[in-house]
Amino acid sequence: MNTIRLQLRFLLPLLLALGGAAYLASGLLDRLTWQWFARDLNNRGALIANTLADSVNDSLVERRGMRLQALFDRAAKDERLFAIGLCGENGKLIRKTASFPRTLTCGSADELARQKDPRLLVEGGPVYVGVHQLQLDSGQKGSLVLLHDVSYAELRSQDTQRYLLIFMGVLGIAVALITVVVAQLSWRGWVSGARALLRGEGLLRPVSGSSPELEPLAADLRARLRDLEDEYRRAQGQETGWNPERLRALLQTQLRGDQVIVVSNREPYIHDRTADGIAVKRPASGLVTAVEPVMRACSGTWIAHGSGSADRDVVDAHDRVGLPPGHEEYALRRVWLTTEEEQGYYYGFANEGMWPLCHVAHVRPVFRESDWQHYRAVNQRFADAVVAEARSEDPIVLVQDYHFALLPAMVRAKLPRATILTFWHIPWPNPESFGICPWRREILEGMLGSTILGFHTRFHCKNFIETVDRFLEARIEHEHSVIAAGGEETLIESYPISIEWPQESERSGWKPVEACRRAVFARLGLARDSYLAVGVDRFDYTKGILERFHAVERLLEKRPEWVGRFSLVQVAAPTRSALEEYHSFQERIQRVTQRINARFGRPGYQPIHLLATHHDHDAVNELFRAADACLVTSLHDGMNLVCKEFVAARDDERGVLILSRFAGAAREMREALVVNPYHVEETADALHRALTMPGSEQRERMASLRMTVQEFNVYRWAGRMLADAGRLRLRERIQARVERGQLDDEVPARGSRRLTAVR
Ligand code: G6P
Repeated sequence: MNTIRLQLRFLLPLLLALGGAAYLASGLLDRLTWQWFARDLNNRGALIANTLADSVNDSLVERRGMRLQALFDRAAKDERLFAIGLCGENGKLIRKTASFPRTLTCGSADELARQKDPRLLVEGGPVYVGVHQLQLDSGQKGSLVLLHDVSYAELRSQDTQRYLLIFMGVLGIAVALITVVVAQLSWRGWVSGARALLRGEGLLRPVSGSSPELEPLAADLRARLRDLEDEYRRAQGQETGWNPERLRALLQTQLRGDQVIVVSNREPYIHDRTADGIAVKRPASGLVTAVEPVMRACSGTWIAHGSGSADRDVVDAHDRVGLPPGHEEYALRRVWLTTEEEQGYYYGFANEGMWPLCHVAHVRPVFRESDWQHYRAVNQRFADAVVAEARSEDPIVLVQDYHFALLPAMVRAKLPRATILTFWHIPWPNPESFGICPWRREILEGMLGSTILGFHTRFHCKNFIETVDRFLEARIEHEHSVIAAGGEETLIESYPISIEWPQESERSGWKPVEACRRAVFARLGLARDSYLAVGVDRFDYTKGILERFHAVERLLEKRPEWVGRFSLVQVAAPTRSALEEYHSFQERIQRVTQRINARFGRPGYQPIHLLATHHDHDAVNELFRAADACLVTSLHDGMNLVCKEFVAARDDERGVLILSRFAGAAREMREALVVNPYHVEETADALHRALTMPGSEQRERMASLRMTVQEFNVYRWAGRMLADAGRLRLRERIQARVERGQLDDEVPARGSRRLTAVR
């Protein structure tokens, strides 16, 4: 039915157009015909006049009027010559045939003949009036008036018009019929082709049966789409839609169920002795937040420092414990460190050296020879643990963070065929900054033992490649982001880390936002109509807590209307407090809090609530849901997951995120209010803007942020790395077989990583 309607819609205008064309053509034809006849009649008239001229001359000279009359009468017998008249010098009609109209004079004939259409209707029908001057030998002047019968011409013109109309009509019907038939035959093809194009089908490959007319367009679009897809892949990695099942499937298929071993300093669960027995605690660590869900999906082995006071009490004879408590989806292998080792490796080299070295946060790195020795020794201890845990020659080892820069090369030395993925959770500085590390060569060589070396951002990858370029003899393939040092290649790639998007089962246990707000406000003693911002960090100098407090102070200074109506609650989880730098920083923050509270506080109101204790996930989630805004003002941060957790907590699509531009997350979370935390004024203004932002704008920003975080979740982070690892392993296997001329699935004795071809 639709097709018929569409065809009618097409045919009616076509027929109308053809009719119009015929009509216009007939008018035009009429004019043209008359022009041809006029030219013809003029020529004919001139010929007649020339022929009669001599006879007229003789008759006039000899005054033989009867002869002239007979001549005229004979000439007028021609069926196309209706009448003849002869006008004398004085314009008088001297002689005429009987048919010459009585009303026509020489003057009026002359006047008519000069007109464009010199036709005259007489009794016998239409005549064409032609006046031809005669040059008579006698010297007399005269003119011959010839009235041509043109009724035949009109008849012919009418016939032509009729034939033309019939022809156009037949042509129109024929065209219409052909159109209908062709349309019937190809309509489906067109429609499905066009629909497929609009749907994007057939753009990546031609759809069979699609209209050939659309093919050039589709080909263009296909080419453009491929470009876009490449760009997208390069920018975002593989497709979206990552979840635990998909990660597990990837491990089973691309990685053939190979063993996954994670190495990190911080353990995912800490067992502590308390007055009530053994308590299990989740540490405040972005690394743990991200890697733990991945481990649950991968069911591998996690090797970490056993730092809890009851950690030894719960492990088996091999220092292993099944986790998470009560579910046992993966094994944690704990490595024990002496106080000296912990002091030198963890507090000293890692946190007084590498941490400030990589975070440009204006705290000087400290490098001690003894710390370095411990760092090396502990790296070796963990590397040995990896080798001990490996069930095959080629496990997949996921090395985490700056605590283990030397470990990749150490594992490589013992398990040459291992696939080692090292992820650096903190920023990588520029070569100048890194250059102050006395053991820079060893660090870089150790890291380049990795198969893949991951950072959060391209910027950090670029810094690392430049650093290697500056300090090592290495071949760098910038195009493929591959570094070849010591005969082995390492792929340097960015993998932005994220969180596990809360599942429905978890979300259903959350208290409604209003209830969270009531509970938090009651706990903090806030007035019901006041506004609340929240900050949740480790108590670390890189987090910009001081700058944040200064921004709150500035807001209250600039806009006194907020005094009494706005508070910031800052959760600051104690961390590395044994270090002087941290200790003094934490004390300073306490002092600044007291000062600001003394300046703007009043009975029943304090602008800053500093909660310097560890808060578990549920408590933090409740705070996030209660707040009007969340402040993440890191001075330098690899990614920062607090901002992503805030967004995940706000299923009501309310609340505003204020985010430092120096956090890796700022590159993804563009709908946040992005600030320079060093610019206190700007942060204070952003705070005011957040607190006064209309609900609709909050919703728009938050909805978009939530989509980003949900899609770019931690399974995608791990999935992209593991998929890259899977491709490299496959390529190595094929390469090894080709090199050895073997067709069986034998493996090479020493994995020599050549990655260029893989990219
Ligand atoms: C950062 C580091 C992690 C570390 C976390 C907590 O996020 O990248 O490796 O676990 O801080 O620090 P901590 O020293 O307590 O483990």
